[in-house]
Amino acid sequence: MQLETKLRPETKIAAIFPDEDSIPKEFQLPFPIHQTEYLINGELRHWEGPKQEAFSSIFVETADGLVPKLIGSFPLLTEKESLAALDAAVVAYDKGRGHWPTMSVGGRIEHIQDFTYRMKEKKQEVVNLLMWEIGKSFPDSEKEFDRTIAYIEDTIDALKNLDRTNSRFVIEQGIIGQIRRAPLGVTLCLGPANYPLNETFTTLIPALIMGNTVVLKPPRPGVILYRPLLEAFRDAFPEGVVNTVYGNGREVTPPLMSSGKVDALAFIGSSRAASSLKKLHPRPHRLRSILGLEAKNPGIILPDADLDLAIKECILGTLSYNGQRCTALKILFVHHHVVDIFLERFSEAIANLKFGMPWEKSVMVTPLPELDKPKYFTELVEDANHYGARVVNEGGGTVNQTFFYPAVLYPVTSQMRVYREEQFGPVIPVVPFDDIAVPIQYICDSDYGQQVSIFGRDTDTIANLVDPLVNQVSRVNLNSQCQRGPDTFPFTGRKDSAEGTLSVVDALRAFSIRTLVAAKATEINKAMLTTIVREHKSNFLSTDFIL
Ligand code: G3H
Repeated sequence: MQLETKLRPETKIAAIFPDEDSIPKEFQLPFPIHQTEYLINGELRHWEGPKQEAFSSIFVETADGLVPKLIGSFPLLTEKESLAALDAAVVAYDKGRGHWPTMSVGGRIEHIQDFTYRMKEKKQEVVNLLMWEIGKSFPDSEKEFDRTIAYIEDTIDALKNLDRTNSRFVIEQGIIGQIRRAPLGVTLCLGPANYPLNETFTTLIPALIMGNTVVLKPPRPGVILYRPLLEAFRDAFPEGVVNTVYGNGREVTPPLMSSGKVDALAFIGSSRAASSLKKLHPRPHRLRSILGLEAKNPGIILPDADLDLAIKECILGTLSYNGQRCTALKILFVHHHVVDIFLERFSEAIANLKFGMPWEKSVMVTPLPELDKPKYFTELVEDANHYGARVVNEGGGTVNQTFFYPAVLYPVTSQMRVYREEQFGPVIPVVPFDDIAVPIQYICDSDYGQQVSIFGRDTDTIANLVDPLVNQVSRVNLNSQCQRGPDTFPFTGRKDSAEGTLSVVDALRAFSIRTLVAAKATEINKAMLTTIVREHKSNFLSTDFIL
């Protein structure tokens, strides 16, 4: 019998990237997509100016050595085109008088359904591009697409529900009123590179369905996967309702904000970028911001934790999509009594994780979409080493181009950068503690307040932790990793982690404002309202019940 010898991670990492021939046929990129089109006012315009090449996080072995795979290119638009996109959205909104914002809810739902139908036809193309652009595993890329479709469908159902509740008049203190939610105006949607499709759509779709018009700037990386959807945007929506902008964010985004014509900013990214964008608006009180920002979610492993479960959840929490999730567990506090065994078994679990190319079956750790990221992670590791921590797992921190093998750092202290910085990747700091006050104080002092995970079994201890922690973060997870879903649950954060709440239902509120028509219940008013409703003279004053 031949004994299987396990390769050291370093050996496999050195040869991690494929040559063209070993990429399975079904995942090959047919040809680079050199995109020249951008969507403004219902028209796909052609760009003759400079373009930005888009490279994959995946390198390919060639006769000249390793080179990043070229996915294609996209237009580097300028301030002029960006402002043209904004103007198209402003005209389509027409200060609330446009066709889209005054359309019936049922009418807008039909447009979104039409878009969804067209989008589903592009699934294969979009998923493959998603995998190539950001190195997300194929099943996770597929999941991102399917979750987005489910989000759209759930949003339609939620709006129908909302509309059914609002399809009635109320009479209070002799006043008749009909209360509904109305759009805010022009929305600027800026999504993140880690969920370029899903998270962008969790703001885009509610913004649209509530009657706002949109300027959409897809994230970089993540631009090319929007190319297959451009015709669907053009054909499913009236002109000017969806407009796209590409290019250098620092060039094309600030003019939009400083124009004062953006009414809602939907941004998923860093708090620093969000603050500088918000500050550009000349009338900040007119701007509604819906922001998903950074986080440093801790996992707390108590001495009585079920370690099998804690390790399983901490692996998912720290390393799903290489730890590049805002909800990832970004620091682990482990009680002294169990820290040695935890580290041993956690390192073992990492050693058993499959790493490689995103199309490989059961792969968990894949190349990173930003070329400079491994350098940053190496700096974090070196800094932690300098202050006395070491990498405790075999091969941890090994780099090959865009690939960085997960590094577990122990013991991490407050002197180290990784203690506070949001690493957003596969570096896992572990802090030992004796007194639960240590992680609690960490959370209180943190600039972030998104979520926490607690692993333990003693009901008194857990209950005593829950009550203060719910006032520090926006979700306390018990014996479970941090996560956004289910998408019907409220997703938000405190401090520098978010502004506004997203969920299927909350997002409808976030992108709209309550507005009402009211009239004293006189005979004349009653007769007038009855006629308007009976003869379907208004989309707002209506008792139509959407089924
Ligand atoms: O990056 C932040 C995402 O909203 C996280 O979503 O917890 O479902 O991965 P997730």
